[in-house]
Amino acid sequence: MAEKQVTTTGLLGWIDHRFPATKLWKEHLSEYYAPKNFNFWYFFGSLAMLVLVIQIVTGIFLVMHYKPDAALAFASVEYIMRDVPWGWLVRYMHSTGASAFFIVVYLHMFRGLLYGSYRKPRELIWIFGCLIFLCLMGEAFFGYLLPWGQMSYWGAQVIVNLFSAIPFIGEDLSLLIRGDYVVGDATLNRFFSFHVIAIPLVLVGLVAAHIVALHEVGSNNPDGIDIKAKTDADGKPLDGIPFHPYYTVHDILGVSVFLIAFSLIVFFAPELGGYFLEYNNFIPADPLKTPPHIAPVWYFTPFYSILRAITSDFMLWLAVFLVVFLVLVLLTSRSKTVKTIATVVVAGMVGGFFIFDPKFWGVVAMGASVMIFFALPWIDQSPVRSMRYRPGWHGWVLGVFVVAFVVLGYFGVQPPSAFGQALSQILTIVYFGFFLFMPWWSKMGTFKTPPERVTFEAH
Ligand code: HEM
Repeated sequence: MAEKQVTTTGLLGWIDHRFPATKLWKEHLSEYYAPKNFNFWYFFGSLAMLVLVIQIVTGIFLVMHYKPDAALAFASVEYIMRDVPWGWLVRYMHSTGASAFFIVVYLHMFRGLLYGSYRKPRELIWIFGCLIFLCLMGEAFFGYLLPWGQMSYWGAQVIVNLFSAIPFIGEDLSLLIRGDYVVGDATLNRFFSFHVIAIPLVLVGLVAAHIVALHEVGSNNPDGIDIKAKTDADGKPLDGIPFHPYYTVHDILGVSVFLIAFSLIVFFAPELGGYFLEYNNFIPADPLKTPPHIAPVWYFTPFYSILRAITSDFMLWLAVFLVVFLVLVLLTSRSKTVKTIATVVVAGMVGGFFIFDPKFWGVVAMGASVMIFFALPWIDQSPVRSMRYRPGWHGWVLGVFVVAFVVLGYFGVQPPSAFGQALSQILTIVYFGFFLFMPWWSKMGTFKTPPERVTFEAH
């Protein structure tokens, strides 16, 4: 067999002959050329990795003392908080980490929307990202049952019951998820198993795939232009800089600021006014006493609001909305397949509005509000990637979407009210309108010509 070409010597040389250590280091760090114009929004990928590590490490220590048993779980968490040395710190880091994860990931996704990072050739990076987001939601949901407080218990009860709204299989499906007719010990055990091993394994695998896909095609940047189009004599992008040391050092700034904010919350306000740790969850689970107001943790509430917005009198407006969408497809699409699919789906849904109850459609809308993110690479028809070179009003459309998302989130935390419901219904239309009408609005208006080289000012 031909001898491998290895330039390193000593121990590293010995390793390189047997494992591609130097090759991997070069490919992914010291010779991975990233655009030199990364800005604030590019901190959140590395921060998401940091939070993932924090969650795994603190999780390992929590599992050493936690008891996944309905009779012992609540007390074991109190034991961690009061008796285990540094247990309070580990637990607060984990609970704050859960919310921090969603803050960081929402900002990371927003950056994708701002600069069109999901567009060709980065569709797979985006798809892996969306799968990560689904896992993250599952991970948070399963983890939330573990302290076995009132909110853990009743939150799980409400969400698992939603599955029973699915026609034909719903009742059996929720029984399968619970492992019992009510949330109980069997539920706690299976949620524990998913939370500590099944989902984290998938999550770590997906993050690896996310990065491999990113490094295959290269990072996008705030200008949304391809840096590989302009290279020097050695084929290195003129606007690229090696990830290490430039961005490793740059990311230390993001990590430092993040850790300051994270520590302030962990040490001074770990409950964060009941948003990060809900007050009702300091009361042990009681299957005989339903709390007056059950709401999911803040990061789920935009989707929860969409679920609550679907009432029987709203179905008519939803049908009108879908028909408008269909008419637009029929009038403007040149593809027969697209027209047929749209007609079948819209006709099926509007017909279904008369057959299945609004609770089922609420579940469908909630599911669709998450799944619709997968479609972004294909529904965005803009000739340029970055918002910088799109018509100014595109930025406003994105702004309205973000406001709708935040306000939906706000009303999802509040107890139901007539005003909250009416506003959530309007915002549900805005939310879906942003995506469903994107194939049209994203190519309207006057676009600026993106520059040939990235815009960059040394600082
Ligand atoms: C555990 C969660 C996640 C981790 C650890 C993670 C990690 C990363 C890292 C390290 C980068 C490169 C640095 C950067 O561009 O900021 C990146 C890029 C990217 N991520 Fe994520 N990510 C996560 C979740 C997501 C989600 C939920 C989405 C979208 C649904 C997403 C979409 C993207 C896209 C499109 C890029 C390329 C951005 C560009 O080149 O402009 N990621 N991710």
